[in-house]
Amino acid sequence: AAVTLAVGLTACTSDTGAGVIDTVGTIDFVNPLAIPPLAEATVNAAGERVFDLTAEEGTTEFTPGVATDTWGYNGSYLGPTLVAKRGDDVRINVGNDLDEATTVHWHGMNLPAEMDGGPHQTVEPGASWSPNFTIDQPAATLWYHPHPTEKTEHQVEMGLAGLFLLQDDEESALNLPRSYGVDDIPVVVQDRRFDDNGQFVTDVRGYIGPIGDQLLVNGTLAPYLDVTSDVVRLRLVNGSTARLYDFGFSDGRSFDLIATDGGLLREAAPMDGIRLSPGERAEILVKMTPGETVKLQSTPPDLGTSASAATRNAGDDTLDVMELRAADALSSIGATPTTLANIVPLDKADATTDRSFTLNGYTINNRLMDMTRIDETVEAGATEVWTVDNAMPLPHNFHVHAVQFQVLRVGTESPPAELSGWKDTIYLEPGVRYELIMQFAEYTDPNFPYMFHCHMLAHEDAGMMGQFVVVGPGEQAGTPPTAHDAI
Ligand code: C2O
Ligand code: CU
Repeated sequence: AAVTLAVGLTACTSDTGAGVIDTVGTIDFVNPLAIPPLAEATVNAAGERVFDLTAEEGTTEFTPGVATDTWGYNGSYLGPTLVAKRGDDVRINVGNDLDEATTVHWHGMNLPAEMDGGPHQTVEPGASWSPNFTIDQPAATLWYHPHPTEKTEHQVEMGLAGLFLLQDDEESALNLPRSYGVDDIPVVVQDRRFDDNGQFVTDVRGYIGPIGDQLLVNGTLAPYLDVTSDVVRLRLVNGSTARLYDFGFSDGRSFDLIATDGGLLREAAPMDGIRLSPGERAEILVKMTPGETVKLQSTPPDLGTSASAATRNAGDDTLDVMELRAADALSSIGATPTTLANIVPLDKADATTDRSFTLNGYTINNRLMDMTRIDETVEAGATEVWTVDNAMPLPHNFHVHAVQFQVLRVGTESPPAELSGWKDTIYLEPGVRYELIMQFAEYTDPNFPYMFHCHMLAHEDAGMMGQFVVVGPGEQAGTPPTAHDAI
């Protein structure tokens, strides 16, 4: 198939940028890994757990003595980690101290469309927005980030993102490390490029977006983590705007994958590598022995036989992400479980609607995003099969708001272990068709849309996004809000 790359984006400024990886090499790990603070919550008269998040400008010294202009929530880079339990009513007071409008999207959350924080829920400078919703889904590593029209990449790049961790009884009953920042570690990986004055550079781009030549983990350059237990749980988050990571360890050790985007797997899955495209998460358990060090790395992704040569060949370097340094004496976590969560498989026989989505150029089904157009109308509670095709010789991925889906097929195959649980974002290998099944929630609103899109943020900003509404039986889609309605 012919490929058009030029739609809507300033094209590549560098040939080497066509690929995924370039010059990040072996590094000295000199900085202790920063752990994002836990957000304080208060309980209001209505019994809601209330959080405050304000988007603000600041500067961050990634390198001592060099101040980089950055944005963050309640701080200069990234944001605090929100924690809530299944069944909690939460409210987040979002403030905007930036000079431009923003939104905050709760990525992976099942919630009413009006609370979702997509491009219609603009928070103007100086304004505020207070979405409230009930947590009604399994324990998981979710995250939040801005989602404004055509500016998502820029705002995430500046540093706006944070974690939203969900807990439930099923997860709490398992013998898993869960001491935040001690044996349960957030690992938000992002690539960045700095100019001579220490400012972010974003105009060195490949086909998939800006590709940095240095990695930040939780905003820390060249990080090490002091490990104090014989098993450590890493919550890996691809917080990059474009780059893919194939995570593994420098000595090839295997680890147990225990959770993906939407929560725990049925069973712990031993593996020695896992790919995460932008927006995807994975929780892994890593065994450590006293006194050892091992590096978390990313090896160059194999993009498959349909990837263009430029994409496929780019980047032979293995990236060092962070170093794990085990103490001479480690506390014992004890045996971790093999059986994790009960996930009822969604059944194709229950699906009432099949939809197909083809990603090509910066379009989905030949359409660019239009804020005034509802692309799909879904009935509340319906089970649907969505088939997604990447018709291009370069990587994309696909994220659906408001649901966690299950993967039925990858090409002609059954899904591998890492796609066997709940997902909200999936990597799309060039030329491969993915069959997803999902059951939509009961929240209805014929006027307020949710989004589906490529999570490579340059693509999303260029229009590789569509809108769906969830309606009651027999109800028609309405009209999306024309003005940006904050509530
Ligand atoms: Cu993480 Cu629609 O986004
Ligand atoms: Cu894309």
